[in-house]
Amino acid sequence: MDKSLDLLGHDEIDHQHRSLLDGIARLAVMPQDSPRFLNEWVRFIDEIRSHFEWEEAEMASLEYPDTARHRRDHRRQVAALLEHLRSFREAEGVVSREVFQAMSDWTARHVRSFDREFMAFLREREVWDLRQELVLWESDFLLEQAS
Ligand SMILES: [Fe+2]
Ligand SMILES: [Fe+2]
Repeated sequence: MDKSLDLLGHDEIDHQHRSLLDGIARLAVMPQDSPRFLNEWVRFIDEIRSHFEWEEAEMASLEYPDTARHRRDHRRQVAALLEHLRSFREAEGVVSREVFQAMSDWTARHVRSFDREFMAFLREREVWDLRQELVLWESDFLLEQAS
């Protein structure tokens, strides 16, 4: 399974993405006829949901303009994961390798596009905040000089 991951230069987000891809890789090689497999899958869905919630809270706090589109991509993935889980449980079937490959591909693609764009915004925002601080500092300084 392809475990390549685009690092975004943000320790927390990179760590969470790595953990998600590792989780998928673990699921892909686990025997599916044991209760551990189902537990691990449920745990993985919890983890990916927490990751999405964390990212969405970050986006909301920064008033990221593309939040709604980004959130929709998260929702689609959670719905697909729950659907695979449901059909596995109901049919007591086997999850094919393609499903895990698709999960891994989706994650890598989402990180490469949506998450990377958000990180670019976050960095620009930090620079913008710094500039605003400098402008305020300068005007305070000029006012002081003038008085
Ligand atoms: Fe992410
Ligand atoms: Fe995301």
